[in-house]
Amino acid sequence: MGSLREAWQKLPDAASEALVRSLWINPGLFAELGFEATEIIPEFSTARGPVDYALRKNSNPQDVFVTTKNSPSIFIEIKGRHIDLSAGSRSYRSTVKQLKGYLLTKEARTAEWGLISNSLHIQLFRKHGKVIYPATSCMEVNADNTEKIAEELRQKLQVPQRALKVAIYNNKGGIGKTTTVINLAAILTLAGKKVLVVDFDPNQQDLTHGLGMSLEPDTFYQCLDSKDKNLEAAIRQHRLSLKDGRVLEFGVIPVDEKLAYAPNDPELQTVLQPSSLAEGLATLQSQYDYILVDAPPNWLNFSQNAVYASDVVLIPTKHNNIFSLKNAAIAIKDYILQIQETRGDGGPIALPIFFNGEKITPAQKQAAQKALLDLCKQHKKQIDLLPYFFPHYTQANKNLEVFEVPAYANIANAAFATIPAVYRDKTARDYYKNLAKEYFLQ
Ligand SMILES: Nc1ncnc2c1ncn2[C@@H]1O[C@H](COP(=O)(O)OP(=O)(O)OP(=O)(O)O)[C@@H](O)[C@H]1O
Ligand SMILES: [Mg+2]
Repeated sequence: MGSLREAWQKLPDAASEALVRSLWINPGLFAELGFEATEIIPEFSTARGPVDYALRKNSNPQDVFVTTKNSPSIFIEIKGRHIDLSAGSRSYRSTVKQLKGYLLTKEARTAEWGLISNSLHIQLFRKHGKVIYPATSCMEVNADNTEKIAEELRQKLQVPQRALKVAIYNNKGGIGKTTTVINLAAILTLAGKKVLVVDFDPNQQDLTHGLGMSLEPDTFYQCLDSKDKNLEAAIRQHRLSLKDGRVLEFGVIPVDEKLAYAPNDPELQTVLQPSSLAEGLATLQSQYDYILVDAPPNWLNFSQNAVYASDVVLIPTKHNNIFSLKNAAIAIKDYILQIQETRGDGGPIALPIFFNGEKITPAQKQAAQKALLDLCKQHKKQIDLLPYFFPHYTQANKNLEVFEVPAYANIANAAFATIPAVYRDKTARDYYKNLAKEYFLQ
């Protein structure tokens, strides 16, 4: 056909937003993505004002998007070429923020995707609950690749996505990674979500033992070593029967002995390629709403695999442990970016840090906020850490709140009980419900 390429070539060097829209986006790109005129609404209204376009496939002849105007699936924000959308630029960041704002309105409840473009750059985002993360890198568009890019986007939009994959990681030990995995899994299960947790800390096996499971000889290892990396056979169930007859159940992939004793095994180095876990989880992606991976406190093979396999990385810290804060900064500015570069699809990204499991006085809170602000200053040239440390901070409202899961004896003791504290205790339940709401559930 070549029509999208020709359309792009017709764009003047300084194309305005109106020209980008009329010459290239609609119908050009939209047609290429498989959308007809009755599936496209310009200036779709939301609580944050109109988003440039909303798109949805018509499910049947009676259900026409331009008529019903309900259940949009994609929101699109278009800019003129004078707005620089190259990754990391100030205007790129504000455009992404604008798109996220639209995607979090109630009108966008059903929307699973967001797209930004000025015809020189284009990037697709996926929305899962509250979480919005890159589904592609921020791609440069030119005459030669416009059709290839459209095809890549079309394929992404077609593949059904279900699970959000979350690695729980901090290089610092003992700050509540495993505890977060267990209780987050339990609270999401209580919320009716289908959850799988993966123990990828074979040296300690805390998640496996913490859920009362024993190590099998080599089930997980064999799955990772198989050609298709299908992890189905490695899944066990954590079950709790309630008095009212309900059964609370989530999937667990426990560590096995071969993985546990293999970190120095040269054979493992060949079996565990950087993308091994990612390929394995892809085989389970459509069966779960959430896949949570517990990572070890180091930056070696297993933690790199866990981060590589994730859409987003959740980073617990302790307000009174400067190393856990510095390590969070290192994870965000070095490790995660390193994996982003290898993957080349824009992911994974860090979620804002949270303080876990310590009593905190107002004076301590101030000291922690100051330490975090210092880290922001120190790394300002390389990366803007503010959104990762203080997600509610804006120029207008310099809000320095960091989300907290307070210290609580019943959370600490749960390690001996093999039943998540969340299942046994109302206060623990409230703490983790807040965590799930703050980060994940829309
Ligand atoms: N919110 C909390 N309240 C009370 N105790 C907690 C809380 N979070 C974690 N703990 C306790 O802190 C200890 C360390 O937690 P956990 O094992 O989850 O940390 P970790 O980061 O996974 O450690 P490692 O780096 O060794 O894997 C455990 O005894 C756990 O029960
Ligand atoms: Mg742990």
